Amino acid sequence: MKDTSFNACFFVGLAVTAIVQTVGRNKDCPKSCICETRPWFTPRSVYMEAPTIDCNDLNLDSLPQRIPAETQVLLLQSNNISKIENKIDYLVNLTEIDLSQNNFLAICDINLGKMLQLMSLHMEENKLTELPDSCLPGLTNLQELYVNHNQISSIAKGAFIGLDNLLRLHLNSNELTMIKSDWFEAIPSLEILTIGENPITKIQDLSFKPLINLRSLVLAGIKLSELGDNTLVGLNNLESISFYDNRLVTVPQAALQKVPNLKFLDLNKNPIQRIRQGDFKNMLHLKELGINNMAELVSIDCLALDNLPELTKIEATNNPKLSYIHPNAFYKAPQLETLMLNSNALSALYRGTVESLPKLQEVSIHSNPIRCDCVIRWINMNKTHIRFMELQSLFCFDPPEFKGQHVREIPFREMTDVCLPLIASESFPSHLNVDSGSSASLHCRATGQPGPEIYWITPSGSKLLPNTATDKYNVHLEGTLDLFNISNKEAGLYTCVAHNLVGADLKKVVVMVNGSFAQSRNKSLNIRIEEVTAHSVLISWEAVTNRVSSNIRWSGKAGSETPQLTFTARVPTDMRVYNLTHLNPSTEYEVCVRVADIRQQTEKKCVNVTTNGLDPAVQSSGQTTTSALVAVLGAVFGVISMTCLYSCATWKMKRDSSRSCLERYTPNKATFPSNTFYPPAINLWGTVKEKNGPLEVKATVIDVSASCS
Ligand SMILES: *[C@@H]1O[C@H](CO)[C@@H](O)[C@H](O)[C@H]1NC(C)=O
Ligand SMILES: *[C@@H]1O[C@H](CO)[C@@H](O)[C@H](O)[C@H]1NC(C)=O
Ligand SMILES: *[C@@H]1O[C@H](CO)[C@@H](O)[C@H](O)[C@H]1NC(C)=O
Ligand SMILES: *[C@@H]1O[C@H](CO)[C@@H](O)[C@H](O)[C@H]1NC(C)=O
Ligand SMILES: *[C@@H]1O[C@H](CO)[C@@H](O)[C@H](O)[C@H]1NC(C)=O
Ligand SMILES: *[C@@H]1O[C@H](CO)[C@@H](O)[C@H](O)[C@H]1NC(C)=O
Ligand SMILES: *[C@@H]1O[C@H](CO)[C@@H](O)[C@H](O)[C@H]1NC(C)=O
Ligand SMILES: *[C@@H]1O[C@H](CO)[C@@H](O)[C@H](O)[C@H]1NC(C)=O
Repeated sequence: MKDTSFNACFFVGLAVTAIVQTVGRNKDCPKSCICETRPWFTPRSVYMEAPTIDCNDLNLDSLPQRIPAETQVLLLQSNNISKIENKIDYLVNLTEIDLSQNNFLAICDINLGKMLQLMSLHMEENKLTELPDSCLPGLTNLQELYVNHNQISSIAKGAFIGLDNLLRLHLNSNELTMIKSDWFEAIPSLEILTIGENPITKIQDLSFKPLINLRSLVLAGIKLSELGDNTLVGLNNLESISFYDNRLVTVPQAALQKVPNLKFLDLNKNPIQRIRQGDFKNMLHLKELGINNMAELVSIDCLALDNLPELTKIEATNNPKLSYIHPNAFYKAPQLETLMLNSNALSALYRGTVESLPKLQEVSIHSNPIRCDCVIRWINMNKTHIRFMELQSLFCFDPPEFKGQHVREIPFREMTDVCLPLIASESFPSHLNVDSGSSASLHCRATGQPGPEIYWITPSGSKLLPNTATDKYNVHLEGTLDLFNISNKEAGLYTCVAHNLVGADLKKVVVMVNGSFAQSRNKSLNIRIEEVTAHSVLISWEAVTNRVSSNIRWSGKAGSETPQLTFTARVPTDMRVYNLTHLNPSTEYEVCVRVADIRQQTEKKCVNVTTNGLDPAVQSSGQTTTSALVAVLGAVFGVISMTCLYSCATWKMKRDSSRSCLERYTPNKATFPSNTFYPPAINLWGTVKEKNGPLEVKATVIDVSASCS
């Protein structure tokens, strides 16, 4: 962060030169300098008209000989001065001296002596390397000291002794490697401290404890990767803190809890991956929060911002991976007015998220890959008082048929009020290489309506449900998979599955350990017939390590009465059983399971099975079902995609049925004991696509209670 106050002063000075009456050169004015009365503001913003000597930019190598005694402001910026030889304490009214951009090697060389009126001393952009004890002994009224942009690597314990009234200290852009609380013992009045852009990396506990009056602290650009719980203890009056451009990987939650009066928090440009539950909790005076430009931020989790009674503005923009905001991410933020979420990777913003914020006035979500489905539909319902900023640049990214269209022009009213899960493509990578023995986290987040549930499948095919923890794995409710102490055994293909009652989405990641993963065992695929009835066959097969996909294909044998149709179902990789239904009785079927692994090697096995004969009592109804099914299905089961949703709606309307399209063809959960069973990923409407008429839909209201399930 650049020192803006300096620039601001400079421009004010320029502007004012034009409007203030020039005193003109008097006979005492040093050669080449400009001497005039200019407006001047004290650090506490008190206005003065100050006799000013402006000798900026003259390549002087020493102070001018005679300086008028009434001088209040002496400007010597951009010269080549390295030492003040003769004391200038005859300038009894001097309030500011600017020696920035000169050639000073040691601060003692400014040799100011006793200057009781001096309030502002500029020494930035010199070549200072240390601040020794007591070099500024007579400056008891100094309020601002600028020593930023030097090469200071050490500060003595008593460096600031005598500066009893110092309000602002600028130490940024130096070579400091530590911060010591000793330095601050002499300057308890300090209100502003900038100490960023130093190679500090670690701050000791209680480092700022003497600074009980500090209001603003800038810790930008110091490569800070963590902050101890007691680092900020004692800063009871701190209102603003900046951690801009550091290496924090989590929100320093415990440390922030020790700053009771914080109003402005800048965490921009840190590699934080998640804003977790409770990260910003009970910060009773927080007004503005900045979480922009975070390269790794994926998710703002449930109850991430909880009980922030004075929060008015959140800025979370330009986060290229931020793809998920939990509907209950913001809780008890009654004053929030502005929510800036543009230029992220968000596919949706839940209506519940904004409805939980009673005072919300404006939202910015443009420049996100918005999926125009029922989750985002509320934006077009004209029932919200919220103003969307730059609405003209809010476009659909997905589904393909709406891509590039304006969100405002989408016929959302024709949609159902349920929509498929979508795993955010930016939420985790497709390849990850880790060192053996290390840990990693994969953040899987999905939107959909109803909100999807998430589980993971390991390379060996086991299913990891949320809230399960072992010594190797931990799956969080929100979808994050933590891998601990990874060995070669854990390497391989992991799959995240997000599912709701309409369907599922999958995303895979190859986790390599030290650049490789174990060979899959070449176990041969084995199909077993588990149960046969007149209309169904239940089959099971074995897990294959690092399985990428499984397909089941079945067809009736020639010679049976009905037409020969081939059905294909794509099933999730953790699924090892499948119930083939709506079969014809007394018919021989060939059933093939095809499994592809991560190296694109596929294995296929087939079995022949004949369905049972019919109990004569149910014969007629059985046949009706079969022909109806054939009419509706066509021959192919589709892959999981958005087309499913619309086709589903179409079919639903055609059938004039209020039931979910899936219900009917989903094998009955209750009768099957295995927990690996997972039906809804199979989509039955892949090829049925017709023009759909208007369909009345209800608004989708999401529960906004403080629940995270
Ligand atoms: C310093 O300022 C005071 C008050 O404005 C004034 O009376 C005095 O003459 C000034 N001293 C010099 C040396 O100009
Ligand atoms: C600045 O002064 C130093 C000696 O103090 C001299 O070596 C250098 O050349 C001067 N630089 C300029 C730009 O005049
Ligand atoms: C919402 O309002 C806009 C303009 O006010 C209008 O063009 C649009 O048709 C309305 N949408 C609905 C769903 O009523
Ligand atoms: C993997 O790499 C790490 C660091 O590069 C090394 O310490 C470790 O010994 C390697 N492990 C194996 C099993 O090769
Ligand atoms: C990590 O796993 C290895 C075996 O793969 C084991 O020997 C080691 O003790 C584990 N380390 C920790 C910290 O659990
Ligand atoms: C598995 O079979 C493939 C060829 O199908 C072979 O290249 C590979 O080495 C086999 N792997 C093991 C572990 O036997
Ligand atoms: C199933 O039957 C077909 C002929 O109808 C035959 O070609 C095939 O080999 C049989 N498959 C098995 C696994 O028996
Ligand atoms: C398979 O589906 C049939 C027909 O829907 C049903 O009768 C049977 O109980 C199902 N089997 C299992 C194990 O769910």
